[in-house]
Amino acid sequence: MQTKIDEIADGIYRLSTFVPDIAPPAGFVFNQFLVMGDEPLMFHTGLRKMFTLNRDALSRLIPPERLRWIAFGHFESDECGAMNEWLAVAPQAQAAHGQTGCLVSLNDFADRAPRILADGEVIDIGQGRRVRFIDTPHTPHGWDAGVMFEESTGTLLCGDLFTQLGDGPALTQGDVVGPSIAAEDLFKYSALNPAMGTTIRSLARLAPRTLALMHGPSFSGDGAAALHALADEYDRRVSDPAFVAARAA
Ligand SMILES: [Fe+2]
Ligand SMILES: [Fe+2]
Repeated sequence: MQTKIDEIADGIYRLSTFVPDIAPPAGFVFNQFLVMGDEPLMFHTGLRKMFTLNRDALSRLIPPERLRWIAFGHFESDECGAMNEWLAVAPQAQAAHGQTGCLVSLNDFADRAPRILADGEVIDIGQGRRVRFIDTPHTPHGWDAGVMFEESTGTLLCGDLFTQLGDGPALTQGDVVGPSIAAEDLFKYSALNPAMGTTIRSLARLAPRTLALMHGPSFSGDGAAALHALADEYDRRVSDPAFVAARAA
């Protein structure tokens, strides 16, 4: 396996590893994002078993020991499986996650105490980059779920939202909603809940110019429109008579 590196917004690098054996024949990508600054922040650690691959990839951008912040969307192996391996190679690094995730998992799991981020709290990483944590509980899945928004570039690090199959380009201006609906139909990865559409729609107020997908290409364009379309799709699913009947049963 190889890890490709592309700059998808000013100072934000996508480290992408394609795994053809997952959901063949399309395959599946795992992306991490390095936000460059005086205090570099990585969003997603990658799987624990891919740590060596990802460490070697990161070292093409910065010495791994310079990493300062380790952040991710929710507690799951591809999001944070290698957290302690990164903490071991980067002595200044600290995990940063929302209150739920820290209290439920990281205070115990992380080898060094995490920084607990309130909903909306910003980490100023220097060089003009500011990364805001936003709680999105159970959306698309995980009680502790959240996303991050880098304000200077308008980049939404949206984790598993918009998940799609295949190894597309690093950056696209094409449709990211249709492919994510197809992946939802296949994987059923979302914790469908009545608040989901509202939660996703609230992210549209950020008017992101780039959507950094964990599993798929990054999207450049009208991020608010894509988020509204995705929210509408989940509203439709939650109000589907079969879903409503199943909840009532
Ligand atoms: Fe996930
Ligand atoms: Fe993921």
